[in-house]
Amino acid sequence: MSDVFLNRLETLMMNNPIRGGVQRYLEAPRLLSMGGGMRGGRALEVGCGNGRGAELIFELFGADTVDAFDLDPKMVRLAERRLARYGPRVCTWRGDVTSIDADDESYDAVFDFGIIHHVEDWRAALREIDRVLVPGGRLYAEEVLRDFIGVFPWRVLLDHPTEDRFDEEDFVSALEETGFRIIRQRRHGTKIAWVVAEKPPRAAD
Ligand SMILES: C[S@@+](CC[C@H](N)C(=O)[O-])C[C@H]1O[C@@H](n2cnc3c(N)ncnc32)[C@H](O)[C@@H]1O
Repeated sequence: MSDVFLNRLETLMMNNPIRGGVQRYLEAPRLLSMGGGMRGGRALEVGCGNGRGAELIFELFGADTVDAFDLDPKMVRLAERRLARYGPRVCTWRGDVTSIDADDESYDAVFDFGIIHHVEDWRAALREIDRVLVPGGRLYAEEVLRDFIGVFPWRVLLDHPTEDRFDEEDFVSALEETGFRIIRQRRHGTKIAWVVAEKPPRAAD
């Protein structure tokens, strides 16, 4: 397992109704407008936190099933409780995005609601996401950039890796180097980026 859990402040910032509202009414609709829905299929959410993202992947994006994992067992327990009503359509586990416990080409879409900036070897996370996507599958990513986590007060209040952090251009270039094709990208100043990227279909697909 790579990386540290959220500190107390960031845990509070994630597990409260304001964060839930931002994710439901701003982040997820933005990613949906950029990349379209799924109309069924298998989705994976990496770093699922308390499970609100997975609810939105069902409700807004229309996935048939959602697998979701997080490094922090406390988050996995919260997600399990929140998602219990979906029964066999959901599977949750404790896991690390740099070594995803799933077969190659398992998912039609992968969702990253602000977790890759927590990962030291974030390029390895992108390679793993690429590995588990089917050709033609999509990554929907909302990411927090170096200019947010690297400046006061967040630099001192939150715990993030400090070396080799990325801006929007670095993130998009690393996706392209991994083999993704960028469908759309947007950003909020230099602090937050939204990217939808596709793993190219096989030539004969
Ligand atoms: C900022 S929170 C976002 C949580 C959730 N996606 C949301 O939007 O509310 C980052 C999450 O990533 C998880 N995380 C950090 N490093 C991880 C890793 N290497 N693999 C999987 N999850 C990780 C943390 O435990 C935390 O739940």
